[in-house]
Amino acid sequence: MANIPEHVHSDYERLKDELNQHNHRYYVLDDPSVPDAEYDRQMRQLQEIESQYPSLKTSDSPSQRVGGEALSAFTQVRHDVAMLSLDNAFNQAELEDFDRRVKDRLNYAALKDAPEIEYACEPKLDGVAVSLLYRDGLLVRGATRGDGTVGEDITANVRTINSIPLKLVSSDIPSLLEVRGEIYLPRAGFEALNAKAIASGEKAFVNPRNAAAGSLRQLNSKITASRPLEMCAYSVGQFVAETSPDSHLNMLQTLAGWGFKINEHMQVVSGIAACEDYYQTLAERRDGLAYDIDGIVYKVNDLRLQERLGFVAKAPRWAIARKFPAQEEMTQLLDVEFQVGRTGAVTPVARLEPVFVGGVTVSNATLHNGDEIQRLGVYIGDSVIIRRAGDVIPQIAKVVLEKRPANARPIVFPERCPVCESAVVRAEGEAVARCSGGLFCGAQIKQAIKHFASRRAMDIDGLGDKLVDLLVDRGVIFSVADLYDLKVEQLVGLERLAEKSAANLVAAIQASKETSLAKFFYSLGIREVGETTGHTLANNFGSLEAVIAADAEALLEVDDIGPIVAGHIVDFFRNPDNLSIIQALRDAGVAWPDIDQSAQASQPLKGQTWVLTGGMDIMSRAEAKDRLQELGAKVAGSVSAKTAQLVAGPGAGSKLTRAQSLEIPIMDEAEFIEFLKKV
Ligand code: IVH
Repeated sequence: MANIPEHVHSDYERLKDELNQHNHRYYVLDDPSVPDAEYDRQMRQLQEIESQYPSLKTSDSPSQRVGGEALSAFTQVRHDVAMLSLDNAFNQAELEDFDRRVKDRLNYAALKDAPEIEYACEPKLDGVAVSLLYRDGLLVRGATRGDGTVGEDITANVRTINSIPLKLVSSDIPSLLEVRGEIYLPRAGFEALNAKAIASGEKAFVNPRNAAAGSLRQLNSKITASRPLEMCAYSVGQFVAETSPDSHLNMLQTLAGWGFKINEHMQVVSGIAACEDYYQTLAERRDGLAYDIDGIVYKVNDLRLQERLGFVAKAPRWAIARKFPAQEEMTQLLDVEFQVGRTGAVTPVARLEPVFVGGVTVSNATLHNGDEIQRLGVYIGDSVIIRRAGDVIPQIAKVVLEKRPANARPIVFPERCPVCESAVVRAEGEAVARCSGGLFCGAQIKQAIKHFASRRAMDIDGLGDKLVDLLVDRGVIFSVADLYDLKVEQLVGLERLAEKSAANLVAAIQASKETSLAKFFYSLGIREVGETTGHTLANNFGSLEAVIAADAEALLEVDDIGPIVAGHIVDFFRNPDNLSIIQALRDAGVAWPDIDQSAQASQPLKGQTWVLTGGMDIMSRAEAKDRLQELGAKVAGSVSAKTAQLVAGPGAGSKLTRAQSLEIPIMDEAEFIEFLKKV
C-alpha cells in the first residue's frame, strides 16, 4: 500500500462512509438524502479508485452490493446458538393459553396483584430467516437457518442486500454480534420480477417467499443483487459486548442504531387482551402493507423473563406466532368462460369452486390470455393454488399436477367470438386475442356505451351497467349515438325503472351533450387513448376535424403520441361506421366550446410535468388534473428529477420528501389556486 497516495486513502474512506450512509437513509430509513444521480456519481468514483488500487478494496465497500464471482457450491455453517422456530396459535383461546403458561411458569399465579406481562408484538414476515455475523462491526458471514443447527453460507448474496449494513455504525460496537431476521421480497418487487420472467418465457414464482428463497439460493450473487430483497432484524443470537439491553424493544432499538431495518409496526403492549387488539388492527392493515405477512409474533418483552422461561424442543416458551387466514388456498377449476371487452379483447375467466383466501371468498380469477393458460398448463378440473394478497386481484399461481383427475380436459381458446360469432384474431406479437366483430359485436357495443357514459367521459348519471346490458340485449340501442334519441316511454317499464328515474336519465343524457373536446376524444373509446391523450389531441389539434384529417405522420409530431397510439387513432377515424356514429352524435347536438388557437399556441405549461399529492380541500384532484392538462402540462404519478412542480396537500408523504430532496418547487393548494388565476 506504500505507493498509494494518502489523499486516495482518505477519499476512499470518505466515499465508503458517505455511500454507506446514503444507502442507510434510502433503504433502511426510506428517507433519501441525495438524488440518485449523486449516489451514482460517488459510486463510480469509488469503483474507479478500486479498479486502480485493488488492494484498497475492503469487505464493507458499497461496491460489494452489485455481486461478484459465481460460487460452485454453498458451504455449510454451524449455528453456535441454534436458530429456533415458533409455536403457533390459531385462535384467541390458544393465545390466552400461551399467556397462562407464561404466567404459571413465572409463578405469577402465586403472587398477589401479579402484573400483566408485557409483550412485544410484531408482524410475522413471510420470507426466509437469516443469520448475520459481525466481528468488530464488520459483516463476516451470512447464513440460512437450514435445520436450525446447520445452515448454508450465503455471505456473497447477503452483501448485495441494500438494507443489510456491511459495517455497523455508531461508536459503541460489540466485538461479536449475530443478528437474526427475515429476508423478504416486497410485493411490488415480486410482481415486477414475475412480469419479467413471464415476458421472457421463464417460470414465474408462486409467491414472494419462494422468490426470496430462490433469489438467495443463487450461486451467482449478481443475480441476487438484481432482486429487490429487503431484510428486517428481529432478534440476536451470539452477542459479546460491554453492556446488553434489558428488553426486546431495547434490543431492536439498539440494532436500529447500528444501521438495521426493524419493522415499523413493532409495538410493546401490556397483557394478552391488548395482543388480540394488535392482531385485529394488523389484520385490517394487512392488505395495504408493502410485503406479505402471515401472522403476528408475540414475544415476552423483558429479556430476564425470557431467560427464566427458556425453551422446549425447538421453540422458545417466551414467544408464539398467531397465524392469519392463508393468502394461498387450493381449489378446483370448474370451468373457463371467455369475456369480450370494449376493444374486443377476449379474456379467459376461471370459474372456481368458491374458496376463502386472503380474507375473502373467491369464485373467479382472471387467466389473462392464451399464453397464461399455456404457461400454467392448466386444465378444467385441475386443482389449482389461488393466491390473493394485498389489493392484487386473485391469481391462479400454480397447478397441482399430482391431483389432476382422469376427466380433466384442456382449455380450448375459441376461434369464434362467444357473443357475435365473428372470428377471433390474434395480431402478430400480441398476447391478446380479439373479436373482429367491432361494433357488430354486442359485447363490444355494451362496453363502448358503458365507457362513453362513465363519469370521466360523458358523465351520464343514472346509466348503469345493467341498464346498458338490457338496452342492447332488447335491441333498443345499437350505438352511443342512439342514447340521444331515447324517450322516457321507451325506458319506463324496463326492469325496475320508474317514470321519474327514466325522466332523470333522459335529462342526464341531454345534459351530457355539453362537453369538452378532450372528453369527447376520451369518450370515443379509441384503443389506448386515455384521458391524457384526449387532452393532448385537443390541445395540439384544436378541433375534431383536424384530428380526423391527421395522418400518422402528423400525429407522431406530437410529443407523447407514439406509433402504436397513432396507428389506433388513424384506424379509428378511417372506419366509416365510427365516422357515421360521430356524425350522428354531432347531429344530436353533442358539442364543445372551440379551443382558442392563440391560447393553445401559448399553452403556458407545455412540456412540463406536474405531480399532485396529499389531500385537496377546495378543488378536487380530478379538477386540478383537468386544469393542468388544459394548460398543456403532463400530470404524473411519481416525482422524478424531471418533475417541474409538486402540488402538496395535507397528508403528503414520500412524494413530498422526495421532491424536497430533489429540490423541486412545491406549492400548497392555496398557492396552486392563486397560480391558476394568474396563468
Ligand atoms: S422470532 C426464537 N420474529 O418465523 C424466535 N420470527 O416460525 C425465532 N419470522 O424461522 C423467530 N417474522 O423466519 C421471529 N418478527 C419475527 C418473525 C419471525 C418472521 C419467521 C422466522 C422463523 C419463523 C418461525
